[in-house]
Amino acid sequence: MIFLSPPHMSGKELEYVKEAFESNYIAPVGKFIDKFEESIKNYTGAKNTVAVCNATSALHLALRVLGIRDSQVAVSTFTFIGSVNPILYERNEPIFIDVDEYWHMDVELLEKAIKENDIKAVILPHIYGQVANIEPILKLCKENNIYLIEDSAESLGAYYKFQVPSSEFQVSSSDWKIKHSGTIGEFGVYSFNGNKLLTTSSGGVLVSNNEEWAKKAKFLSTQAKEPEFIEYVHKEVGFNYRMSNILAAIGVGQMEVIEERISKKREIFEWYKEFLDEEFMPELKNTRGTRWLTTVVFKNKNPFEVMKKLQENQIESRPLWNPMHLQPLFKGSKAYLNGRSEELFKKGLCLPSGTTLTKEQVKEVCEVVNS
Ligand SMILES: Cc1ncc(COP(=O)(O)O)c(C=O)c1O
Repeated sequence: MIFLSPPHMSGKELEYVKEAFESNYIAPVGKFIDKFEESIKNYTGAKNTVAVCNATSALHLALRVLGIRDSQVAVSTFTFIGSVNPILYERNEPIFIDVDEYWHMDVELLEKAIKENDIKAVILPHIYGQVANIEPILKLCKENNIYLIEDSAESLGAYYKFQVPSSEFQVSSSDWKIKHSGTIGEFGVYSFNGNKLLTTSSGGVLVSNNEEWAKKAKFLSTQAKEPEFIEYVHKEVGFNYRMSNILAAIGVGQMEVIEERISKKREIFEWYKEFLDEEFMPELKNTRGTRWLTTVVFKNKNPFEVMKKLQENQIESRPLWNPMHLQPLFKGSKAYLNGRSEELFKKGLCLPSGTTLTKEQVKEVCEVVNS
């Protein structure tokens, strides 16, 4: 079976897990949690990191710390439900925004939604390893006192390259600079679930440049136990969201090979381009995406029929995201639409993109698609 995006261990993970076992820190504390958080900080440039059990809980903590409750939250409609469920956990109303030609939140539709509602936060998903056009969104958020939370669950390792000066990005030298997805808004999240670029089987990291907020998130993720008391004192509701030391040990091993994995993902994307005469997800100018998944939009084929044919040939593929505004759960919700997400869902497909794939295997997948 050729899977969509299976785990790919470097070999070091088992060694680190063994070390964690030997230390007997089989708990949501231990040195690998610190190391994992440090490695994300060093790699992305985020000032503060909190390792948690998944990206969904990381988004929940972000909303909780910012006090976004019983409010309106804008989110892209073309995303996974994990971007949206946390909005509901805090009894907020999601407002769905359709996407631009780069498949990410459309700025003009967001602007209209901001004018017509009382939006308190924007959750901006960066999808399929690529990034959203964040600069105008950040500007809109700042002008309207709206918090920006980047859902970079799928896009760890993707970044913006830009030439300064850019007051929005707070960079003042004249060199090309990079800013990682997830590190620009008030909060960002990364996912390490089983099919992501890197995996800890299940896991997430919350990042923020605001130290106080990150501290608060960490406190809430450990049952909001007041640290100055040994006798279990609680003043507010907390959550059991902290990552385990064992999973963090896997994460430390995975982070050592992140750039290798990204190069391979990008190579796989180029192979697909060579073998398929179809449309592919575009990459925003002056950004580097990871091509976590190669996604294609067919000119004439029905993606669901292609998916079936691939399955018959032991090849896993998946539809593109089924827009949130079409979900039974969100019947009657407000949505600002342009038809793009529905069109993408009808015509597109995610192709196998695992980093152990060979060019021969990609060719084999394409032969089935083309047949
Ligand atoms: C865009 C997006 N947001 C959120 C999530 C939730 O991540 P997790 O599975 O780590 O909770 C995922 C992935 O599963 C995702 O793809």
